[in-house]
Amino acid sequence: MSEGYGKIKKYIYGTPLKTGAVVLDIPASDGTPAPFTYDAAGDTFTYNLKDRDMVFGLGETVRGINKRGWRYTSNNSDDPHHEETKESLYASQNFLIIDDGAECFGVFVDNPGTVTFDIGYTSAGVLTIKAQYNDTDFYVLNGDTPLELVTTFRKLVGKSYIPPLWAFGYGQSRWGYKTAGDIRAVAKGYKEAGIPVDMIYMDIDYMQDFKDFTVNPERFPDFENFVQEMKEQGIRLIPIIDAGVKIEDGYEIYEEGVKNGFFCKKEDGTNLVAAVWPGKVHFPDFLNFKAAEWFGRKYKALTDAGIEGFWNDMNEPAIFYTEDHLKEVFDGIDEYKGKEIDIWEYFKFNDLVSSLSNNPEDYKRFYHDFNGVKVRHDKVHNLYGFYMTKSAGEAFKEIAPDKDILLFSRASYTGMHRYGGVWTGDNFAWWSHLLLNIKMMPSLNMTGFLYSGADIGGFNANTTEDLMMRWVEFGLFTPLFRNHSALGTRDQELYRFERKKDFKNLIELRHALAPYIIRNFCYAAENDTMYIKPLWFEYRGDERTREVEDQLLVGDSIMIAPVYEQNATGRYVYLPEKMKMLRFRSYDDYDEEILEAGDHYVKAALNEVLVFLRSGKELTLAKPGSRVGEADVKIDKTIFFKE
Ligand code: GLC
Repeated sequence: MSEGYGKIKKYIYGTPLKTGAVVLDIPASDGTPAPFTYDAAGDTFTYNLKDRDMVFGLGETVRGINKRGWRYTSNNSDDPHHEETKESLYASQNFLIIDDGAECFGVFVDNPGTVTFDIGYTSAGVLTIKAQYNDTDFYVLNGDTPLELVTTFRKLVGKSYIPPLWAFGYGQSRWGYKTAGDIRAVAKGYKEAGIPVDMIYMDIDYMQDFKDFTVNPERFPDFENFVQEMKEQGIRLIPIIDAGVKIEDGYEIYEEGVKNGFFCKKEDGTNLVAAVWPGKVHFPDFLNFKAAEWFGRKYKALTDAGIEGFWNDMNEPAIFYTEDHLKEVFDGIDEYKGKEIDIWEYFKFNDLVSSLSNNPEDYKRFYHDFNGVKVRHDKVHNLYGFYMTKSAGEAFKEIAPDKDILLFSRASYTGMHRYGGVWTGDNFAWWSHLLLNIKMMPSLNMTGFLYSGADIGGFNANTTEDLMMRWVEFGLFTPLFRNHSALGTRDQELYRFERKKDFKNLIELRHALAPYIIRNFCYAAENDTMYIKPLWFEYRGDERTREVEDQLLVGDSIMIAPVYEQNATGRYVYLPEKMKMLRFRSYDDYDEEILEAGDHYVKAALNEVLVFLRSGKELTLAKPGSRVGEADVKIDKTIFFKE
């Protein structure tokens, strides 16, 4: 019998597919999954929330750490508008913890189609869970504390991915670096400003016409040497891989995929034609293990050139349009031609045209060969990004057996956390999105996505120097620490700003903290726990911590309190116990102050980072200068708080 059986009960509804989310074989229980009631007519699971119940989990979603008061829908979506009225982002992690402070339990809904969690939205005191197609493995987890439930859940779904240790450095990305020259200029900009940079990301423009596993030979002549040249400067290049394969005669991946039947097919057996960045594409059927194995091995073209990391994108999959729906839209437009339209017709017309992208009906047009079973895509939609990433993760063992490869993805489902991390997609350069990043991190951690982070500084829209600085001050605690921005936005490499010295100090502080971050990250991964936690998870006896969502515990020794408002020169902080406050300006320039438990207003100038050392704990710092994760990194000083 596997460990943890007694704490987990499994109930089966319909005929669930093996999604690959869980690694424990739990025997099925009969009856109702208490404390839920199950309504067979509506296929809904209901739990009456107690007044004091808080609800945690769901990973990458909008709003707070306590998910109560909104409806969330697991339906991986390429939607860059991460507003609080959205129900779905790019990821689906169907794990919840319900905790009233005395009793708690967890629930995991293993269903890769659309699942809705109405957490006191329709009715304030009611939690309902409903799957669109209820072929579900429904798990109820028991435990004494939320943290214990996290560990039980993670035993159920398997160990989290640990990236190569250099991936705990700082990465610079931007959609728009087109040539080796552009990348050299970025490296030079950082070097001249004295700001360390450990990775430079290559967005779609490195490819030949956006074709996966190609490198444009004019823009990147002698790519292998270029990879090496950057590496000698301590910089690793991390290329993007997109899900869609360009339809183009003579393109090896396209031709092999067609020949072997490795692309997703429509009902009539022809390959689905969709459009994404490369223009018209086919989607590899990652759920078909032969196709997955084939695609995974293609990363070899880049690993052989010395590449050691990848980010998998557009793998919800994002669809700008399908050929079939485009035709429907054109036919629809024809009907409007020459007609007088009233205002309501105008809205309908508008809806018709904007229905082109990510249309739910398009996700019903194609099928997978999932372990020999033909399955319509919408029923397994949330697995697509997971299986793309799994295909790469598994292939790396074959194609680069001596290397540790960095891998993260935009779309995800539970189970993918064993193969890679996630970034949280196309946010905006908004202060509210810095706060969203702060609130998302513990939820991602609960669900096992430890190697995660947001686009620092904001992807869409123009950032400002102060937003970037505050975001770096928070981001330097997130495992994935990457500055990324969209084509056409203001340049936001750190050396572009006036306060270069402050940015240099902050990135060096990340380097100094790297041994602490790595040790605590690896501890969390190996022990199925969290690297970033809400205060409530450690101070559950302290009522005040129930509502603290803008301070977090990072690792075993520190609490952080990021500043996330423009023009703020300090903030209120709640201390659940006496702590030593460290106000860092750089790794060796900081003040210390012992603060009693309770409320405090603390100053934090724009270039200052607040760290609170817990009682009886210590914080180790390395001397910046050596490369993150290398064996020669030495601890330079240890700050203690021993009373
Ligand atoms: C998507 C990604 C973004 C990337 C862009 C171009 O929007 O989320 O990170 O820069 O595509 O590849």
